[in-house]
Amino acid sequence: MTTPSPDHIKQVCEECQKKTDFTLKYEGGLFRPVFRGLKPGQSSIMTSPWAILAEWLYKQWLRLGNFIKAINTKLFPRRPKIYGTVMDSSVIGTITFSKKQDELVPIHHLRLELWSRTWLGQWRKLSEGYSAEDGSFKLPFELRMARLLRVRHIHFEIYQITEIMASQAIALPVHQLFKCIRIPKGDLIGMEYNLRNIRLFFWEYRTDTVLPRAEIKDRQKDAPQYYSQGRLEAIIDQAIPIELIKEKHKLQIKLRPNTISLAQIQADYRENLTVCIEKKIPGYTRGDDWFAERVMNGMNRACFVPDVDNPNHYWVNYFGKGYYDGNHEYALPDCAIKFALKPDGKPTPLEIKTTGPLNALNRDWWQEHRFTPADGDTWQQAKRVVRVNGGFSAEVDEHFASTHLNTEQYAMAVYRNLRLNPLAMLLYPHVKEVVLINHTADSILLNGYIPQASALSYQGLLARCKDTLGMLDWKGFTCTKPISEAHNSAKAENLFWNITNQYVRWFILSHLANIKKYWYEIYCCSEDLLNHAVSEFLSDIDLDALDPRDRERRLAMKAYFKLEYGFDDSLERPVRNGIKPAVSAITLHKHFPEDEAETAIADLIQCCTYIIFNASYLHTWANERQYDDIGEVLYCCLGLRFGEKESGVLAPETDLSIAPDLTRSTEMMFFSNLLSRTGYGYITSNEDGDINPYFSNLLLSKKEEFAALGVKAEAIESRTNI
Ligand SMILES: [Fe+2]
Repeated sequence: MTTPSPDHIKQVCEECQKKTDFTLKYEGGLFRPVFRGLKPGQSSIMTSPWAILAEWLYKQWLRLGNFIKAINTKLFPRRPKIYGTVMDSSVIGTITFSKKQDELVPIHHLRLELWSRTWLGQWRKLSEGYSAEDGSFKLPFELRMARLLRVRHIHFEIYQITEIMASQAIALPVHQLFKCIRIPKGDLIGMEYNLRNIRLFFWEYRTDTVLPRAEIKDRQKDAPQYYSQGRLEAIIDQAIPIELIKEKHKLQIKLRPNTISLAQIQADYRENLTVCIEKKIPGYTRGDDWFAERVMNGMNRACFVPDVDNPNHYWVNYFGKGYYDGNHEYALPDCAIKFALKPDGKPTPLEIKTTGPLNALNRDWWQEHRFTPADGDTWQQAKRVVRVNGGFSAEVDEHFASTHLNTEQYAMAVYRNLRLNPLAMLLYPHVKEVVLINHTADSILLNGYIPQASALSYQGLLARCKDTLGMLDWKGFTCTKPISEAHNSAKAENLFWNITNQYVRWFILSHLANIKKYWYEIYCCSEDLLNHAVSEFLSDIDLDALDPRDRERRLAMKAYFKLEYGFDDSLERPVRNGIKPAVSAITLHKHFPEDEAETAIADLIQCCTYIIFNASYLHTWANERQYDDIGEVLYCCLGLRFGEKESGVLAPETDLSIAPDLTRSTEMMFFSNLLSRTGYGYITSNEDGDINPYFSNLLLSKKEEFAALGVKAEAIESRTNI
């Protein structure tokens, strides 16, 4: 067979990239399957016609309810005018968070309204205002207006901001009722009516984990926020076709296992990038060039550390199971790969070093193995071991911990504290919905699929996520520096950072007066961030008490993570709750520090840029490439099984005893399909109308530059919502 020319390879790769870049569509309709949401381990699709009919009738009932509500709103509008002239009484009280550890923490700047409603249903606004910095409030109103004979109820209402409506000139918050307290009319008799301490279950932190997570009692009915309607419809379109495929496979595996094979499972799902390329250039995706290209510019976007002895050589590290809790079914050794750069700047692998067991017979974690291209078939198999470790690391460390969880810690601090400060308009659109998708990921991925498909248990995964979060900070963060002309992932990353930074700078300088005026909100945001951050990696363990090999390995992890995540461990970070947090303070001042104005504004620009950059670009990169790099079971997965042979994971792809089993295979294909294609929430599409046009225009102006680096500007998400 003739070797394909570089031009032919480039053409095939581009064609396949285009061909496999898909968005699933589902048309819906009566008596067709209805998606009920993602659930672990069982079908979440209704297929019984009676159940579907009942669901349809229920939806019509809800629609009728909404229709009546709309009529009610039209008939009895709530006008902004305040009734009353002699404000001789007032409603007072204090608002705090409700959880035990938070019950003394005031909730500032909540919008409050006092309304009367007549026996005929008419609304009259009696007063409005905001809770103060200490959570207290005083809404003055005219007592006579509240005690009119025609008045039936008095409502004290607390509002939260749920959406932002953005335009370049102005962004407006959309307030929605959060809590209503009815006050008996007869109780309003003096100069004050004291509602005392109102404890709100408002964006509370979980207390069952050291990770900074949102408490969600019920995602459907009692969550701090909800998905936008468009996002809900998009996920239904995406999920139903592949959910049906997965369920069919699971039934076959259960009832007639001899009728299904891994090859059939693979073929039932849509073709991914590597399958497409393999069909046109057999063997290419298993070759050294493709291997190196994906390590540099694929989902991994790995960190290339210069070799100390040879400036043209670089090392990439993927850390394996190590000290994390896990199982003995799957291999996950540490992998270090040495690359050289070719004249065109593309890397080529020279050597692979693994540490850890490669078969079920020798469990010694410290065993080392080295492989080079001269090893023939074993070299091919070692590359697969690396690919799988790279896939696992990319999913757990770079995708879930670095973008999903990292964004959640900022989302919590933002939603709990920013309201009157214009930063709310800047950040809300980019941190929304992340707590919802993370909540789902907890049950279906972290405590569901991943522990069954990889070497780590749920507890092991949580510990690994904590370690990764422990090396992530906005302060001192710098993008990856390109090591060559071919380092597209680093070039694109820098390009997006610069655009985001330009937008954030413009926004902050345009709203500086109010940003300074409501600086207290930024202070509280910073305090929440610090008080709930995980500890800096290795700062909470006694390294001297460890086995020297373990200590050396952990220090090597830290040294690598510093480069991989752009973490500066020399920065002073204030100790909180006895730990050294991984995150830096945004400010330590309750009021804008005029004497340090330049530094304070520079820090704010850096922090906001980092938050948006993580929630949008970095998440898009890892998320959208899942199906490219983990969409062919035998090419890559989250874990190779040891099997029972001495060869262990160093076996050809034809040895299915080390591949994921059939159930794990169809689940892997389902998740990588579903999660790769959000289909909703892009910066330039601005489906929810909350993205500032300045930002999307800036992004579009760099469309060609991004395209040259293999990035579609229109496909960059505004937020982490899948
Ligand atoms: Fe994601």
